[in-house]
Amino acid sequence: MSVLEIKKYPEKILREKTAPVNEFDSGLQRLIDDMTETMYAAPGVGLAANQVGVSKQVSVIDVSTREEQSSLIVLVNPEIIHKEGECSSEEGCLSIPEYTTIVKRAEKVKVKAFNRHGEPVEIEGDGLLARALQHEIDHLNGFLLIDRIGRIKKEFFKKRYAREKALSRK
Ligand code: NI
Repeated sequence: MSVLEIKKYPEKILREKTAPVNEFDSGLQRLIDDMTETMYAAPGVGLAANQVGVSKQVSVIDVSTREEQSSLIVLVNPEIIHKEGECSSEEGCLSIPEYTTIVKRAEKVKVKAFNRHGEPVEIEGDGLLARALQHEIDHLNGFLLIDRIGRIKKEFFKKRYAREKALSRK
């Protein structure tokens, strides 16, 4: 297993819809293992394949705290099939370092996907898990959390990003 480089905003691959997985081969197993190690090393609660430069519908999630046993969720070709309620909470992203913002999402979701062996699975979640599921599936569709915060906050983010970039060049 190896820790992969995480792509950062504004890299183009983060904006592209990823392709569905058709083969559950050894290459996919290695990608999932590397993504898992990369997520834990970051550390983060979720990671999508395009964040490590692979445009495929693969995501790993683990929202358990350090005290609990790890509960890794592997999602291949995931799709939200049910949404319920509304919930605003602070959110960050490994591809947008040092930035957090309040994002409104569904409170509960149900997702259908395949596991790493190609078997169909359904996952229901609320709280942090619901948030992570929506965040990662957004990634796989080319969306970032800054696309979920409204126009004014997004403009503010872009200005801040441009200013920081200009400063780092000096
Ligand atoms: Ni993210």
